[in-house]
Amino acid sequence: QIINEIRMALLAWYDKVHETRGMPWRKPFDASLGVEERAQRAYEVWISEIMLQQTQVVTVIPYYNRWMEKFPTIRDLAASDIEVVNNLWKGLGYYSRAARLLKGAQKAVADFGGRLPDNAKDMEAQIPGVGRYSAGAVCSIAYNQCAPVLDGNVQRLLSRFLALHAPPKSKQTLDILWTAAEAFVERSARPGDINQALIELGSTVCKVRDPACSECPLQLWCEAYKRSCQQVDDEVVAE
Ligand code: ADE
Repeated sequence: QIINEIRMALLAWYDKVHETRGMPWRKPFDASLGVEERAQRAYEVWISEIMLQQTQVVTVIPYYNRWMEKFPTIRDLAASDIEVVNNLWKGLGYYSRAARLLKGAQKAVADFGGRLPDNAKDMEAQIPGVGRYSAGAVCSIAYNQCAPVLDGNVQRLLSRFLALHAPPKSKQTLDILWTAAEAFVERSARPGDINQALIELGSTVCKVRDPACSECPLQLWCEAYKRSCQQVDDEVVAE
């Protein structure tokens, strides 16, 4: 099946590059972890994903490390208050993210025994500030659930991959892209790594301007590359 070949190429690329950027929240999924340890991973991935939403990896790393020193568990966060949280957030911008993390932690402790829900649907429905992207990222990376992710970078990558000429951000376009993102992780053994590979490939290789197609593990299957229309698609899904 072609999707398996595509995944293997993507994961081989990811396995080569992902160690190089020193992201403290990245640890391989470990099937031997118990319920509590997985929930702890989910907490760590959740914090990193919310920080990474509007901020670059290099900037996030020291903030993430300080946060984990101050709030090593979701219970430590839930017991804190907004002044302390905002102070740790100082310089990251978009402070509503910090407030939502505090609220989300308090909800998880009050209603779910301090564990973030282990599937993307419940997580999105139950935890304030968690949308479909963050729920998919956390549940795939920490819980190994085959839930898709679609951020701006993955949108651009998949639009090129399919040579999708469609109005960006329209409901119809997003539906097509979510379905494509789903096909990448469906019944995969490593959904978290596939998602992180797509995010990373989108942000580092399949860039808005001058995508580095010669370095891309998906080149062989990329419709935009085949048709030499990568740049045309930039106008369609500029981020
Ligand atoms: N940006 C958002 N999530 C990310 C992740 N898990 N790894 C790298 N960059 C990201």
